[in-house]
Amino acid sequence: MEMIQINIKDVLSMVPQAEIDGLNGCAAASLSKLVDGTGLGNDFLGWVKLPTDTPAELLDDIVATAAALRENCEAVVCIGIGGSYLGAKAVIEALGNAFGHNNGPEVLFAGQNIGEDYLYELQQHLAGRRFGIIVISKSGTTTEPAIAFRLLKEQLEQQVGRADAAKLIVAITDAKRGALRTLATTEGYKTFVIPDNVGGRFSVLTPVGLLPIAVAGYDVKALVAGAAEMEAATLEGRDNSAILYACTRNALYRAGKKIEILVNYNPKLHFVSEWWKQLYGESEGKDHKGIFPASVDNSTDLHSMGQWIQDGERTIFETVLSVEEQQHTVVIPTDADNLDGLNYLAGKRVDQVNKMAELGTRLAHVDGGVPNLRITIPTLSEKYLGQLIYFFEVACGISGYILDVNPFNQPGVEDYKRNMFALLEKPGYEKETEAIKSRL
Ligand code: PA5
Repeated sequence: MEMIQINIKDVLSMVPQAEIDGLNGCAAASLSKLVDGTGLGNDFLGWVKLPTDTPAELLDDIVATAAALRENCEAVVCIGIGGSYLGAKAVIEALGNAFGHNNGPEVLFAGQNIGEDYLYELQQHLAGRRFGIIVISKSGTTTEPAIAFRLLKEQLEQQVGRADAAKLIVAITDAKRGALRTLATTEGYKTFVIPDNVGGRFSVLTPVGLLPIAVAGYDVKALVAGAAEMEAATLEGRDNSAILYACTRNALYRAGKKIEILVNYNPKLHFVSEWWKQLYGESEGKDHKGIFPASVDNSTDLHSMGQWIQDGERTIFETVLSVEEQQHTVVIPTDADNLDGLNYLAGKRVDQVNKMAELGTRLAHVDGGVPNLRITIPTLSEKYLGQLIYFFEVACGISGYILDVNPFNQPGVEDYKRNMFALLEKPGYEKETEAIKSRL
């Protein structure tokens, strides 16, 4: 069975193998805690065995619901923020056509910002079109998606009537709690449940990620099967990539490398990096600890961030996502005049040039003192993205435990919300409103 691979050879000149190996025992114990549920945050471990535990009936229901939305809608708006949006966006972008021809409804996103112009332009874009909505919020109370949903629900009801609108809306939320659950029950929407024990940033393999991905036309069963391969291989000890990744990045952190840059050479992976940044940033950045997760899209960003990475402060390391096989072939043509001097590349595939950019950059960055890890993905398919998702999730849990934080809470995210509600004079925040106004 072919799997994604990790290679740490270009780290070893900067961190000795012994220091990485020294963390192996802690990593193995951390993996056991994830499996046994004996570590911090153990009420949020539902994702650990999710791929192998997902019932076939649930996948069938997701596929059938997606098929109905695909048949009835010109566009489907997925409303959600953070873990309720990034996983779906990452997979859809990675598998999709860069120019949006996916033989199905246009898949749009909202509720991931509070941009007034964004929402205005989205409403204009949807005016007069038959659209559907997938509204996703675990808590059911998050402000950004709630505002977007109120606006788009009203627009849809005006365009098709309340009864038909209800058939074009799917809500994904907690089984019992939250305003979205109440609303969905009252309006009679089709719903899916986000399991209690799966946190937002670990929820891409629940209906949260799977329904939008299926609506976009991708094979969610293959995605889950890929994740299940990685789950089984990791938990049975046949594949120790996640342990190796967790140990290596922690050894680097201890050696003063405080920033990890996830690097890709394929623009379709931009949102995989955004998803990864949330996963690691929200899981590890606490108690004044944690590697800062950053990302670049190369070769684009070699022309903007390349100087800093090559020659700036030596507190960084890179993890490169390297896609071996492309889906399409583009060969550089010969030009009789050769005025651009490119004939030395004639007959080569564009990907051959890209791979040399990747190799040349890796060698330069290692020479410049930037340790490089490499994760090789055979090709961008549902199966390998499923493997990658599970690999990063389980490595994140292990890594957080090595760091001695609770990887499954996010207390820091509440602080801005409290201030925002106080400033907006939300009922129940009267004392906070008074306190914050006295500071202004
Ligand atoms: O990972 C997390 O918990 C967060 O990013 C949440 O997913 C995000 O804040 C959205 O929350 P909710 O799904 O409750 O609207």
